[in-house]
Amino acid sequence: MAPVLEIGFGDGSGFRAEAQGVGVGGDGEGRDFEEFLVPVFPPTRAGRGAVGARHLCGGTIFPWERNETPCVCLRAGEPFPNFMGHVKLHIPGPVEVSEKTFRAFCRPMMGHRGQGFKDLYARIQPQLQQLLATRQLVYISTSSAWGVMEGAIRNLVAKKVLNCMCGAFSDKWLEVSKRCGKDAEALQVPWGSPIRAAAIDQKLATGQFDALTIIHNETSTGVMSPLDEVAALKKKYPHVLFIVDSVSSMTAVPLRFDELGIDVLLAGTQKAFALPPGASVFVCSPAALARAATMKDRGYYFDFVEFQKNAEQSMTPSTPSIGHVNALESKLEDIFAEGLEARYARHRRTNQMTRDWAARHGFTLFPEPGFESITLTCVNNGAKAGGRVVDVVKLQKMVKDGGFLIDGGYGKIKGTTFRVSNMGDETEASMGQLLAVMDEAMKKLQ
Ligand SMILES: Cc1ncc(COP(=O)(O)O)c(C=O)c1O
Repeated sequence: MAPVLEIGFGDGSGFRAEAQGVGVGGDGEGRDFEEFLVPVFPPTRAGRGAVGARHLCGGTIFPWERNETPCVCLRAGEPFPNFMGHVKLHIPGPVEVSEKTFRAFCRPMMGHRGQGFKDLYARIQPQLQQLLATRQLVYISTSSAWGVMEGAIRNLVAKKVLNCMCGAFSDKWLEVSKRCGKDAEALQVPWGSPIRAAAIDQKLATGQFDALTIIHNETSTGVMSPLDEVAALKKKYPHVLFIVDSVSSMTAVPLRFDELGIDVLLAGTQKAFALPPGASVFVCSPAALARAATMKDRGYYFDFVEFQKNAEQSMTPSTPSIGHVNALESKLEDIFAEGLEARYARHRRTNQMTRDWAARHGFTLFPEPGFESITLTCVNNGAKAGGRVVDVVKLQKMVKDGGFLIDGGYGKIKGTTFRVSNMGDETEASMGQLLAVMDEAMKKLQ
């Protein structure tokens, strides 16, 4: 009997299709198949079905271009996954996580003080150092990025911190600094603008500050600030510790920690790493560690000195999410198999596809020209003058019906912008599938 594929869309709708063609084996319940094709019916919603099925099961769609019945090609030996309710994420984090990564995440547990874990940490350490171009030890924290962001304030701000603010996440860092009881001052630029070195220089020249925070890629506005330009200020202000959030840029753009001369570089795992949320990767300069050692109220869980001491033994200060470390190993394997330069170039190309889509549909972008992120696109939808405006909620709904989640804007620019992520594992082919669904949605919005 031919196996039956059930496809659902999470909204109660769906259909059944018989697998055809094939070299098939299997028990009819989704196990032990050879590769086979599943035509996606009914034809009235064939496009949607094919796209949905592709993202629900990881197969390859064809023939897509020739207007024939789309088919999904399922891989050999894969059990049918749960097709219900999985909408592929194109929000700017968390992003889609590959099956390979999930498998690594689900490896059996081990003791975090045992040799198995130490070996794992020691195996990935050189790759993490290569990724961030540093000789410093790279730490893994089982917390989302805010844990390390708050930790950096508690470990490093003795006198006063300058919080460079250009969007929702960088703005919040000022509030976090204050809640940590620190003297903190804002360097605020309008949302959509980048943080420039000249503005920082003016503030630091007052001599009031011993630390600053900056977000490299402000995910809320889709702005990438010029990190090289800002980091160059370190030469003029060596005693000021530069804390850099690269949450939505790490692994997608070159970040050469030692050359930049900055003091902390951190990222969460659910963005361009394409790992599940819940862990962070970060690195500290010797100056940052020296400052941390003098700070009396730096706490324990995010004590940078503890991270260093433990990393020297290939361990973390407390029990880590071992699944994340396994998944990170798997992802680093992918990253280095692809090659860093190829990965950066892929992100530039897939981002350009989204920008081109926006331009083709008459939209402008929210970021100031020249400072657009390459991991996500923040489309202007009325937040700024110029360009087209659509009903974002309707657009999101139609795109979601096609199997993808895009973001409807963040904070005070919710609805007047929308965001599409290309970070992580996305390729030209996968972005093409998303943008085709977005094209269809735009036709209906006209
Ligand atoms: C640039 C940036 N920094 C910090 C954060 C906070 O990360 P988390 O909520 O994972 O702690 C985010 C989350 O989206 C972000 O985009």
